[in-house]
Formats: sequence, C-alpha cells, structure tokens
Amino acid sequence: MPKNITRRLFLRDSAVAGAGALLSQRLGELVDRDGSRRTPGEATTPIIVSSHRNETGHRALEAGWEILQAGGSALDAVERATNIIEEDPEDTSVGYGGLPNERGVVQLDASIMDGRTYNAGAVASLENIKHPSSVARLVMERTDHVMLVGPGALEFAKSWGFPEEELLTDQARQYWLRWRERHSDRDDWGPPDHLRERGGADAALPADWLETYGTVNVLAVDGNGDIAGITSTSGLSYKIPGRIGDSPIIGAGLYVDNEVGAAGATGRGEDVIKACSTYHVVMRMRQGRSPQEACEDALRDIAERYRAAGIDFMPGEKFVAINKAGELGCARTGEDDPAQMTVATADGLEIYTGTGLF
Ligand code: GLY
Repeated sequence: MPKNITRRLFLRDSAVAGAGALLSQRLGELVDRDGSRRTPGEATTPIIVSSHRNETGHRALEAGWEILQAGGSALDAVERATNIIEEDPEDTSVGYGGLPNERGVVQLDASIMDGRTYNAGAVASLENIKHPSSVARLVMERTDHVMLVGPGALEFAKSWGFPEEELLTDQARQYWLRWRERHSDRDDWGPPDHLRERGGADAALPADWLETYGTVNVLAVDGNGDIAGITSTSGLSYKIPGRIGDSPIIGAGLYVDNEVGAAGATGRGEDVIKACSTYHVVMRMRQGRSPQEACEDALRDIAERYRAAGIDFMPGEKFVAINKAGELGCARTGEDDPAQMTVATADGLEIYTGTGLF
C-alpha cells in the first residue's frame, strides 16, 4: 500500500540523482528504496514526475500525488496533474494560453498511455478545448482508435460534453501579433515603412515573441506498480496550420511499458518523431539501462544520425524517464544547462537534476 503522507509537500531544491535512487537490476527483479527485492507488478512506492518546474507544475504534482497517496491510479494522477497545467493561462506552451499557429489559432496536441492495459490515445490539431489530455483519454478508453485529429477530434470532444472555449489569451495574442510583425521584413505587417524605426504602435508590444517548442510530460507509477503517462502541448509556436509535433505520437512524445517504465519528450518534435525517441528510451531501459543512461542514449542517437548524414546539427530536446522501481532520468541538449524535472513522492516535492549534452 502507498505510504501515507501527513505533511504538506514541500520543495527541496536538491539533486536526487544517486541519493536514494532505486536500482534496476534485470527485468523480473527490482530492488526498492529500502533494499527489498520485488518482481514487476508487485506493490511499489508511488511516484509522479513532471518536466515542468514552475509553480503550476508543483501544484499539479501535489494534486497528482494526492491521488497516488490515497491509493488512486497512475492514470488518474497524470490526468489530474496535466489538467492543472493545461488550465494555466500563463503557460504559453500547453493548453489554455498556449501560443497559436501562424494564423493566431491555438491547435493542441496530446497523448496518454496506460501501461496497465497497454492502451493509448491521442488528439492532434485540436482547437477550442482546454483539456486535450482528457479528450485523448476518452479516445483511448471509449473508441477502438488511438488518434483523432482536427475537426474529428473537436467533434468527438464536443460529443462528450467538453465546452468550446477561446484558448488564445490576451498575452498569447500579443506575442503572436509581435511575431507576425517581426518575423519577416518582406511582408506588409507592421507600421508603414517610413515609421518603422520610430517606435509607434510597435513600442507597445512585448519585448519578446517567444518562439518555442514547450510541452509538458507527466509520468507516474502507482501503488500497484502500474505506470501511466501524458504529454500535452500547444506545439511549435506560430507553426504552419495543421503541423503536428511529436507530442501526440506514441513512441515519439510519449511511451509507457508497464513492465519497464515511461518516457516523455519536449523540444523539437520533428526530430523526436524521426528518432522514435521515447520508444528508444523505454527499450533501452528494457535492456537494462538506467533511466538516466537511456535518456542520454536517445539524445546521442539523434546526434549520431545527423553526424552519419554528414550534417552538423543538433536540435534542442529534453527527455524525462522513470522506471518501475522509481529510478529517474532526464537529459537535454546544452552542455551548460542540465535537464531538470519535478518529482513528488512520500518524501515530498523535489527537483531532480539530470544532464545536459552537446
Ligand atoms: N515537442 C513539441 C512539439 O514539437 O510540438
């Protein structure tokens, strides 16, 4: 049974790599925190992690943890946590408040995977629905399909009673307007040419128009040892309408294997799709690599593929992973900027620091 938590979760800004980490030996034998051996499927210590490290991300994990510590499922915990992040109007990378496509329309992608039932669901290019991860869950549980896109996904969401809402916040609109005026000097958006360098209407706009691939991953193991995960995003900001990233693609933005663990990706989705990166991470863990090693392997895999093609290119990516024993990993592009993620367990809320490569 999961341990009870009797105090409010608190944030400890410490690297937990190594300290208290759990050892994964081989499939069929795992060593838990207290050194006891168990086989996959046996009751375990619950844990929930998120690629987000901001205040909302912390609140989200607290809510997910409450479900886990009460004996709830990993699936319910990741959905609850993700919904909180999707609702945050300040978060320009996920759900409500996400940055729009080049026409100013917010198009959301999300996927969910339930290790216990080996089931998955996803939505892509979904407009006007605040909780794409919950729609993805219904695709998973209430259809025989894995992914619905665009108008079909919207019709499906509405049939289940999801209200249509404007997802473009004033803040996101201001970023988009700024981007539209500034991304090219070969069109007619912006002040007249003869006033361009003099401020005018331009001066009222934000200083930065935020070009980003931001995304959230939430992964959990519950007290029964079952594993679930969600990836949710508004995708690449100012994308070509209809562009779909890695987030809704099972094996790219998210993968869960109930015997092994789970992985999620953020960053440039085009490369995560080509490299099937989260499937790569989970398969490496299946072969005995730790989550940390597996995340680094998947980053190196992308680098090596470009190198083999004679191209000097390394996209910005971040992978997070967890195994069935609660061992953690995260790695990102950028040697001077190690990847981090937030972790909630019976010990409280902590920041796990992984590695930065390339
Ligand atoms: N990783 C988010 C995207 O590329 O859409």
